[in-house]
Amino acid sequence: MSGEPILELTGVRKGFGPVRVLHDVDFTVRAGEVTALVGDNGAGKSTLVKCVAGIHPMDAGTVRFAGEPVRVAGPRDAARLGIEIVYQDLALADNLDIVANMFLGRERGPGGLLDEAAMERAARETLASLGVRTVRSVRTPVSALSGGQRQTVAIAKAVLWDSRVVLLDEPTAALGVAQTWQVLDLVRRLADQGLGVVLISHNMADVFAVADRIAVLYLGRMAAEVATREVTQTQVVELITAGRSGELGLARPETAVV
Ligand SMILES: Nc1ncnc2c1ncn2[C@@H]1O[C@H](COP(=O)(O)OP(=O)(O)OP(=O)(O)O)[C@@H](O)[C@H]1O
Ligand SMILES: [Mg+2]
Repeated sequence: MSGEPILELTGVRKGFGPVRVLHDVDFTVRAGEVTALVGDNGAGKSTLVKCVAGIHPMDAGTVRFAGEPVRVAGPRDAARLGIEIVYQDLALADNLDIVANMFLGRERGPGGLLDEAAMERAARETLASLGVRTVRSVRTPVSALSGGQRQTVAIAKAVLWDSRVVLLDEPTAALGVAQTWQVLDLVRRLADQGLGVVLISHNMADVFAVADRIAVLYLGRMAAEVATREVTQTQVVELITAGRSGELGLARPETAVV
């Protein structure tokens, strides 16, 4: 199923009050691939993934999931489909350990009681299945983890629930070189396991290291969706800053300027 569209957005519009942020955006996420979503500050990347995850209602647009039209009216709809988002600020609870964080808000167990042993096992298995070896114990409080390890826990939390699509909003922004590589490696492995992965990043080296495709938002418009191997970093930077690069991009990017 690798390369099959798992999530297809068409004609997405979103505004906040009188301000239009997304203009008829089309965006496709494919199973087994990493799609980088790039664009300048304020281009609408976070808004788009929040629409996908049901956090912001779309003003217009259609969503197809695994080929079927679906309605994502809220985060629960998204979660039911297996769409998970990892925010830049992570929303982990510092004082809790890894297991507690991974199940936060979704504790399972008979009668609402937590089965600690089962949760601990699931947390350990998920980390192991992702090839995470740098976390010694799942009972470590998150406050004692490095930035990269926290990011790993947040990603593991997102894939704990049979996810099909994971959206990562700048997961490496605050990380050093070695930790960035660990997280990118994990991102790649998620795709290799068949998930559709969306990676928002401002770092072209990261994007070119791990993404199969690149989608460029320019002032709320989708300027280009291209295969990584068919473009250069210079072209992508031009698309980001000007909405156009040679034959690629918006026909008249100047009209996008308000
Ligand atoms: N909740 C909100 N209310 C009003 N305006 C918003 C809201 N969220 C985002 N915006 C506006 O929408 C535009 C796009 O913001 P968004 O956060 O999607 O950009 P981004 O591409 O993720 O940028 P960055 O790279 O800086 O994270 C910005 O002009 C921002 O001010
Ligand atoms: Mg953002």
